[in-house]
Amino acid sequence: MSAVLDWSSRAAGPLRGEVRVPGDKSVSHRALMIAALAEGSSRIHGFLEGGDTRATAAVLRQLGVRIDAPAEGERLVHGVGLHGLRGSTEPLDCGNAGTGMRLLAGLLAGQAFDSTLVGDASLSKRPMRRITDPLTAMGACIDTRAGLPPLAIHGGQRLHGIRYALPVASAQVKSALLLAGLYAGGETEITEPHPTRDYTERMLHAFGWPITFEPGRARLSGGHALQATDVEVPADFSSAAFFLVAASIVPGSELRLPGVGLNPRRIGLLEALRLMGADIRVEHARASGGEPVGDLVVRHAPLHGVALPEVLVPDMIDEFPALFVAAAVAQGRTVVRGAAELRVKESDRIDSMATGLRALGAHVEETPDGAIIDGGVLAGGGAVETHLDHRIAMSFAVAGLIARAPVRIHGCAHVATSFPGFLELANGCGFALAVVA
Ligand code: S3P
Repeated sequence: MSAVLDWSSRAAGPLRGEVRVPGDKSVSHRALMIAALAEGSSRIHGFLEGGDTRATAAVLRQLGVRIDAPAEGERLVHGVGLHGLRGSTEPLDCGNAGTGMRLLAGLLAGQAFDSTLVGDASLSKRPMRRITDPLTAMGACIDTRAGLPPLAIHGGQRLHGIRYALPVASAQVKSALLLAGLYAGGETEITEPHPTRDYTERMLHAFGWPITFEPGRARLSGGHALQATDVEVPADFSSAAFFLVAASIVPGSELRLPGVGLNPRRIGLLEALRLMGADIRVEHARASGGEPVGDLVVRHAPLHGVALPEVLVPDMIDEFPALFVAAAVAQGRTVVRGAAELRVKESDRIDSMATGLRALGAHVEETPDGAIIDGGVLAGGGAVETHLDHRIAMSFAVAGLIARAPVRIHGCAHVATSFPGFLELANGCGFALAVVA
């Protein structure tokens, strides 16, 4: 993926209209993987056509799974059954996707064949011991480059279930261990220091695998089978987040975001913005494909700073770049603590946001596990770096709406990993975003 696409974002009038954000990334990854291991064919509706999820589809195809794409946002996965994957001698390229690599590592640890998982420059810097340590405790054999990708997974190991208390709340680690647990003898039980998104648990259940789970705990045993079923992917709350912040901070705005996934483990930003004074309503709350969804209606409202309750952190872990922008223009001080995980995302998101916002005139002090942001106005404009991180790019597109001078955002190609079509959708509701040569 080219890293040299720059955008400029500048102040515009009020944001208005309806914004249909693409399908959920977490659900799309899991739907592909679990459907691939099922018996029979599963249809996925609302699939995210992003770089990350397409990379996962390509890896599964390389492992012998037929995946048809009958239409945009739709996939028909012809499952091969739990033991039907075929090994590949070529590296399996997960692109930019931490979720793809970590979940696939769990899934591949119990196969009869060897695999090598690789990723792009950003993914190659992300910590993998958090999965390789517990997978090794289950009997897996995985080599890393000092804890970083590539992951060389040695097949033919006999896995056994473990009881594992996650040291850090991480749905990726939990999911990797549950997927390995499908191939393990005995029971695998995972407990979490704080509950995280439970899509893997819900989806395994929907595909007929016996699993018990509650917030903070999940338990399953190996030796069952997955039966194909259709999956309805909701719109991604993490993509909606940019529009929730944008409409909140641009005077006169009102946006409607239909069909957004509202899994309780994903909507911490909703609560955080409301604590800051935002005006966001949920309409037509309903269930779709076993997930809570609703239409979000957001109107401009004056925001004020908050001491963010730490308990919200895991429920909004991907939304901090957008929250930092809201905090930079809110009246008063916002304090974020307990969010050290932000330093090991697609970039060090505390540093990326603090540095970029300061360049635009904001007062942001980094702390090891968060930031102190004294909000007000973004008095300047200028150049900011995305560090090839999709969410940093989109957050600065939002910041440009309210900065006193245009913002040039360096390195926006990665936006397509999670949000293809962001620029067009954003401009369609009133952003003034342009590609610059
Ligand atoms: C994800 C879990 C989170 C999140 C990521 C997607 C998932 O990562 O940041 O974007 O789909 O399980 P961690 O598990 O590392 O917190």
